[in-house]
Amino acid sequence: MSTTKKIAISGAAGNIAYQACFRIAAGELLGIDQTIDLQLLDIEAMLPKAIGVKMELNDCAFPLLNSVNVTADPNIAFSDADYIFLFGAKPRTKGMERKDLLEENGKIFGPQGKAINSNASREVRVLVIGNPANTNCLIAATNAPEVNPNQFTSMMRLDHDRAKYQLAKKAGKTIASIQKMTVWGNHSSTQFPDISSTIIDGEAAKGLIDNNWYEKEFIPTIQQRGAAIINARGASSAASAANAAIAHMRDWIFGTKKDDWTSMGLLSVGNYDIASDIYFSFPVLCQDSNFTVVDNLEHSEFARSMLNATQSELLEERDAVKDLLG
Ligand code: NAD
Ligand code: LMR
Repeated sequence: MSTTKKIAISGAAGNIAYQACFRIAAGELLGIDQTIDLQLLDIEAMLPKAIGVKMELNDCAFPLLNSVNVTADPNIAFSDADYIFLFGAKPRTKGMERKDLLEENGKIFGPQGKAINSNASREVRVLVIGNPANTNCLIAATNAPEVNPNQFTSMMRLDHDRAKYQLAKKAGKTIASIQKMTVWGNHSSTQFPDISSTIIDGEAAKGLIDNNWYEKEFIPTIQQRGAAIINARGASSAASAANAAIAHMRDWIFGTKKDDWTSMGLLSVGNYDIASDIYFSFPVLCQDSNFTVVDNLEHSEFARSMLNATQSELLEERDAVKDLLG
């Protein structure tokens, strides 16, 4: 058993956190040999509910759960944190795009970035989930100048997993047979789920799947899946989002599977001619809490136009929040 790890969770009284906390406490993130301290953050008005989450965590008698602390102060919540999940932000409702949340949610992430900068472990890994996740991640990271921006990522894993499921279903294959899916760009309706390098049971997906279905059904389905969930549930995805957040962080820490990669929003430094200074989703290989972007993938004209569209949206979002960037 190694030193207890500190995991901070913002939006602790919210729906996604309620799905994530118990799985993390049960060992699904760091394994069954790792004790953890949970540092739960929410706004003052939601503390009674967050304390209820703590009570339930205690009632589970998780052997790995060393302590649970609930606070409305990000400086306390992020103190010495090894891993931080930033769920805390308003979800969209029917008819909204995620970027419509930027004005209200963006201002949460500057102070939280500062609190991470001043208090978190120097090795911290931060995952931003609160929408619009890529640009909120940019806000948080630029407000934490003493933390490497590669220690911040935004969540695209739900899109990545949605894409794997839809492709497996269409191909009549298992999820496990799908490798090298990529979702590029923004966690929004401009995202580009790309199967050009995807393998199904050792064969190129492109050769097995009708291109018309890919462009006209698959891509819009993934781009609109969050809205479809909101229409169906009357609330945005929670259990699948928590699952994706744990999977994202676990792969980041312990590594992606052999012969596979995942998709993460990360600070572009010009990879694939994407503008720098935006958090853009790329295919990545992870090892030992670090990632490298998968290089040298070819892009068709269609793919390039999709990349350009999602890049443009992220540049617009970045311009809209320039006053919040550190
Ligand atoms: P929710 O409304 O159930 O919970 C959000 C919680 O955040 C609330 O308890 C709220 O009080 C708290 N909060 C608000 N401001 C805060 C602050 N400054 N500090 C700490 N906590 C704060 O929402 P949810 O369903 O849990 O969703 C959370 C966010 O995650 C939303 O923005 C949603 O759109 C987003 N989301 C992203 C993805 C993704 O793939 N990136 C997937 C699903 C949901
Ligand atoms: C999702 O993709 O399910 C979340 O980002 C919630 C949303 O607003 O769609």
